[in-house]
Amino acid sequence: MDIKELYQDIILDHGKNPRNKNKCKDFNKDAKGHNPLCGDKVHVYIKLDKEKKVEDISFEGEGCAISMASASIMTEIVKGKEFNVAKKILEHFLNMLKEGSKLSINSLTDDENTRMMSLSGVKQFPMRVKCATLAWHTFMHAVEGNRNTVKTEK
Ligand code: FES
Repeated sequence: MDIKELYQDIILDHGKNPRNKNKCKDFNKDAKGHNPLCGDKVHVYIKLDKEKKVEDISFEGEGCAISMASASIMTEIVKGKEFNVAKKILEHFLNMLKEGSKLSINSLTDDENTRMMSLSGVKQFPMRVKCATLAWHTFMHAVEGNRNTVKTEK
């Protein structure tokens, strides 16, 4: 299997069987994201502890395979991480999608790096970058307590 096929398999798997797709118990932060162009929606729930560590995270929503896969991968990656670490991961992820930079984040395992890299192909399709980043931006809004819905369009 070549790397493209591997990435495709990861996206299909997460798109079909999204992880952490529910409303997690005792969440204390949440935010909504919306892509008005296609109508896709995501709602992210987070249980943040006193040290700003993501104790639990989940999401609900409807959308294309990329947006659901990305939300699913995001919940797996940031669960158990300090918010500052999660923020750094998000910066790397956005750079990867916009500039095609290779992802290699020390705080992630090889497997986690691969899961994030599986979304790198969307760089060639600017419209899909919005699908891949919706849940991540919504995560940031939730932690920062921003009550406005994240919109991909102004
Ligand atoms: Fe709507 Fe992907 S087509 S988020």
